[in-house]
Amino acid sequence: MSNELFDLSGQVAMVTGTSRGLGQYFARALAKVGADLILTSRKRETLDSFAAEMSALGRRVVSLELDVRDHASIQSMAAAAEAAVGQIHILVNNAGCNVRKPALDVTWDDWNLVLDTNLRGSFFVAQAIARGMVARGYGRIINIGSVTSVFGYAGLAPYGASRGGIRQLTMSLADDWSPHGVTVNCLAPGWFKTSQNRVMYEDPEWVEYLVERIPANRPGMPNDLDGAVVFLASEASRYVTGQTLLVDGGISIGRTRAMVKPKEKD
Ligand SMILES: NC(=O)c1ccc[n+]([C@@H]2O[C@H](COP(=O)([O-])OP(=O)(O)OC[C@H]3O[C@@H](n4cnc5c(N)ncnc54)[C@H](OP(=O)(O)O)[C@@H]3O)[C@@H](O)[C@H]2O)c1
Repeated sequence: MSNELFDLSGQVAMVTGTSRGLGQYFARALAKVGADLILTSRKRETLDSFAAEMSALGRRVVSLELDVRDHASIQSMAAAAEAAVGQIHILVNNAGCNVRKPALDVTWDDWNLVLDTNLRGSFFVAQAIARGMVARGYGRIINIGSVTSVFGYAGLAPYGASRGGIRQLTMSLADDWSPHGVTVNCLAPGWFKTSQNRVMYEDPEWVEYLVERIPANRPGMPNDLDGAVVFLASEASRYVTGQTLLVDGGISIGRTRAMVKPKEKD
């Protein structure tokens, strides 16, 4: 095996939602193995400092405005991206949001915000970027899912529905586009410490409860996702499509004590 399998030199990766959080980690991991970058945010100026950091690595960086809840914004962003770089090789569909509430309190608007952003937005960004990928016969699409793509949690009804939908969407798009050289996979992180989970991580009792359920025995650090995103973006994953890769320290195995503790001897 050689590093060529993971080398992204000469390729362009678009990562949506790179003003903060996991999107920046995904983009940085791809840039470190050679990819040039397209970064997006609803406010372009919020990308400036991260774009400067990525340029300092010697990568070409294009920053674009994108609101994934607005179809016209998706279309103009895709056109601007192609005009700027020509070919986009990799898309990481990362932009997303969450509303954490008991199911009985979820409003019509809460539901629409989460589903429109996470599920409809991811589909139409993928569609806009896949047009060029399919025409050129090459692409890697990585949809960001979650442990909620495969498990249900109280307080996360719209979010879980959107992430379960992402897993299913990944399989459907893989069947549609893989014959044209475009793989589509879902990278599903566990519970990482970003602004989306800040309220949870501010509660030490919750952190203790979480860690007890993680076989790797610690919360996820955002750079724990580097290897998975590079793998799914690279030649190394050429025969992998339609899959959901959980990177969660093992929490999704449903850790449960299955042995009673041995009794202390008198
Ligand atoms: N943190 C975790 O543990 C975890 C676990 C599993 C999955 N995820 C998912 O991974 C992704 C990143 O998570 P994170 O924790 O880094 O979230 P975050 O810190 O809240 O960042 C979300 C990003 O999405 C962008 N965004 C939100 N709404 C948008 C819209 N309508 N149009 C375009 N961009 C939009 C934001 O950009 P602007 O506000 O600048 O536009 C921001 O850059 C999300 O999809 C999240 O659901 C996170």
